[in-house]
Amino acid sequence: MLRHMFSNLLLLWSLSHEVYATGLTYGDPKEQSWNNHNLSSVPLDLDVRLRKLDLSNNFIRQLHTLGLVYLEQLDLSCNQLGFISEGAFENLARLEELNLSRNALNNNLGSNSKAFQSISELKSLDISMNGLSDTAVELYLRNKLSLDQLKMTGNALTRLTHNLFKESKSLRAINIEDNLISVIDQGTFEPLTKLETLNLARNNLAHICDFKLHQVKYLNLSRNSVEFFLTHEDHQLYRLEILDLSYNKLLYFPIVPKINSLKYLHLQNNMVGALNSEATMVSEANYLYNEIVNHGDTRVKKNDLHANWRLMPLVYIDLSYNHFRSFPLETLILLSSLETLNFSHNCVQNIIWNVRNDSESGHNRQLFFSSLKYLDLQSNGIVSISPRFLKTLTHLETLNLQDNSVLPCSPMDHLPSSQSTAQINYNTSCVVFGQLRTLKHLNLKENNIKMLHANSFQKTSLISLNLARNVHMAMHVDALEDVQGSLQSLTLSELNMTSSDLSLPCMPALTQLNVSNNDLDIMPSSLSCSPLREIDIRNNAFVSLNHSLILALSVHLNMMHISGNYFNCCDSEWLMLLNESNIKLPDVGQAECFISAGNILITEYLNSSEIHCLFHTKTQETHFGQMIIIILFIFAILIVFIIFTRRMCCNQRSLIV
Ligand SMILES: *[C@@H]1O[C@H](CO)[C@@H](O)[C@H](O)[C@H]1NC(C)=O
Ligand SMILES: *[C@@H]1O[C@H](CO)[C@@H](O)[C@H](O)[C@H]1NC(C)=O
Ligand SMILES: *[C@@H]1O[C@H](CO)[C@@H](O)[C@H](O)[C@H]1NC(C)=O
Ligand SMILES: *[C@@H]1O[C@H](CO)[C@@H](O)[C@H](O)[C@H]1NC(C)=O
Ligand SMILES: *[C@@H]1O[C@H](CO)[C@@H](O)[C@H](O)[C@H]1NC(C)=O
Ligand SMILES: *[C@@H]1O[C@H](CO)[C@@H](O)[C@H](O)[C@H]1NC(C)=O
Ligand SMILES: *[C@@H]1O[C@H](CO)[C@@H](O)[C@H](O)[C@H]1NC(C)=O
Ligand SMILES: *[C@@H]1O[C@H](CO)[C@@H](O)[C@H](O)[C@H]1NC(C)=O
Ligand SMILES: *[C@@H]1O[C@H](CO)[C@@H](O)[C@H](O)[C@H]1NC(C)=O
Ligand SMILES: *[C@@H]1O[C@H](CO)[C@@H](O)[C@H](O)[C@H]1NC(C)=O
Ligand SMILES: *[C@@H]1O[C@H](CO)[C@@H](O)[C@H](O)[C@H]1NC(C)=O
Repeated sequence: MLRHMFSNLLLLWSLSHEVYATGLTYGDPKEQSWNNHNLSSVPLDLDVRLRKLDLSNNFIRQLHTLGLVYLEQLDLSCNQLGFISEGAFENLARLEELNLSRNALNNNLGSNSKAFQSISELKSLDISMNGLSDTAVELYLRNKLSLDQLKMTGNALTRLTHNLFKESKSLRAINIEDNLISVIDQGTFEPLTKLETLNLARNNLAHICDFKLHQVKYLNLSRNSVEFFLTHEDHQLYRLEILDLSYNKLLYFPIVPKINSLKYLHLQNNMVGALNSEATMVSEANYLYNEIVNHGDTRVKKNDLHANWRLMPLVYIDLSYNHFRSFPLETLILLSSLETLNFSHNCVQNIIWNVRNDSESGHNRQLFFSSLKYLDLQSNGIVSISPRFLKTLTHLETLNLQDNSVLPCSPMDHLPSSQSTAQINYNTSCVVFGQLRTLKHLNLKENNIKMLHANSFQKTSLISLNLARNVHMAMHVDALEDVQGSLQSLTLSELNMTSSDLSLPCMPALTQLNVSNNDLDIMPSSLSCSPLREIDIRNNAFVSLNHSLILALSVHLNMMHISGNYFNCCDSEWLMLLNESNIKLPDVGQAECFISAGNILITEYLNSSEIHCLFHTKTQETHFGQMIIIILFIFAILIVFIIFTRRMCCNQRSLIV
């Protein structure tokens, strides 16, 4: 009673008194930060009213009883905390968030864990980077019935058992990234009915033989050594939406729950497709599944992989950096909601149509990627793409073919003759982009294209086109004719082109042009048609730019990259125009121009243009003056010499005579 009165008195006193504090307050007396103050212990004179206290980045080694009854958030991260006395947290009845990351909490487990037991209202706990063992974590998680978020990355956990979370069953998010976990016992996560987010990335897990977490929405298993991921078939709904299995050792596609909500599947940097054909891969995956689920009963011959994939609402799959040598068409085409497919950095040279005929009718099956908008096929070494494959891409908007060997066909290659067009297309190794009616963005950078024929993009309405780094490419005058009305962004950089090689049609929609890294000295005057906002002419051979063209463009122009050219400072009406308008020249600091005395920075020139070009004309005048003087001088000497020799001659003559 007396003690109670005394503490009330103390509270009153502290409320009425202006509390002295050397720490930085946030203007609100309820918050205080001592972050990075070289503290070696908790300051003694803390305001009891504090709700939020930041003691991070100090040298605190020990923690004794804190009397902050209103404290809700305590940040002790980045200290050297190894000892917490048993009653340290006793008074912190309102504490909800505790950050103890980067300390030394694997010491003094006895007293530390007793201290931890008293903070049962905690909602968020961060004990990352503390060198914690399995036992230590188990002790620290006792009596945490309200815990919602737990982060313990960068510790030394090796095995998760069903004891670990048995007193923290309200957990919604657990992050155990970067530990040494190789075993997860049955029953570890299953009882956590609220668990939605589970991050197990960067551990040592090798097999997921029986995924059972119906409740989890986000599962990150990136950077383990996972060889396969299997779910036993049941008829329950799994809430899994995001599954990250990237940077593992998968040979097969994962076998996902039959009824799932999976939208994002990250499988990049694995070994899927290393087995020869798609059929082999699918049957091996099913065999494996059978062996585990049906204990090797080989009489069961169901295609579980495909049956489950067919029901998946996946919108995104990343298969980049795998080992595919053929395109797994029959598997991927089952994903009817798929919008983005990243298939870059595999080894598919020919995308062929190897779909088996319908088993009943015996006829060709017509299949479609009915939602696919984005297809990334970069760096595969693709030489040919079957026209029947292109026909499946009915909604494709973006196609990245960078770093392959794909050649656009000329319309001549598929002119209708007596045969049907489809038949002729079968044997062309070039690609008829006109088949992709919905295509808007096409990247053909680095495909070793030699010739861009007239009407290469007939029947498309491309918005952006990248043709960069096709070093030996020649462009037919009408190459872009069909897309001249739709094209908004055009990249023609690194083509080794001179101005005589480049002729562009009038493009009334073009807002971005990149002709950097060529050998151009004149801008095509047809550009005056275009409402260009950004132009990149870096690293070319421009000496000057057409003033009236720049004037026409300056209405829309917002940014221009100009460095790496041989501009003449004194022929720079265009530059004055750019300088006066609001056009941004982000690389003007590197851009140079020449005057008779050598190269100077354009910025330097702009600073005092008159001087440089005045000087320029002056030097010419002095030069001219000197020449005249020299000529006059020589002339005078000559006259003197002639007169002198004449005299001599006369004298000699007179001597002889
Ligand atoms: C902490 O110590 C370092 C090195 O002794 C010193 O440079 C720094 O100013 C100190 N910081 C504070 C807030 O006292
Ligand atoms: C704890 O503090 C560390 C370092 O100060 C920070 O990176 C981390 O995000 C904090 N944890 C939580 C859960 O806010
Ligand atoms: C999974 O974790 C890795 C490693 O921390 C991270 O890079 C990746 O972005 C995470 N994946 C997802 C889908 O959040
Ligand atoms: C596809 O993967 C590559 C390599 O991992 C990456 O650079 C690219 O941005 C990805 N594309 C998409 C659309 O995610
Ligand atoms: C598949 O069906 C097409 C006609 O629809 C037929 O020409 C072809 O021979 C069939 N292929 C096989 C392997 O049966
Ligand atoms: C396809 O063209 C190549 C040469 O261009 C030829 O050798 C081959 O016989 C043709 N195939 C068919 C089916 O016409
Ligand atoms: C660019 O063209 C010049 C001459 O036209 C040639 O010498 C040079 O090798 C070419 N560069 C490349 C990368 O092919
Ligand atoms: C133009 O293309 C070059 C090379 O392809 C690239 O480095 C540069 O960033 C591009 N310019 C702009 C403005 O995007
Ligand atoms: C400069 O550009 C205009 C179009 O804006 C064109 O009519 C004119 O011929 C060009 N002048 C030179 C020298 O190229
Ligand atoms: C521009 O001139 C001013 C004053 O003459 C000088 O201080 C400044 O350094 C110059 N800037 C450049 C980029 O030459
Ligand atoms: C370039 O523009 C700046 C400010 O926009 C101005 O101060 C400077 O005089 C201009 N230089 C020339 C040479 O017109």
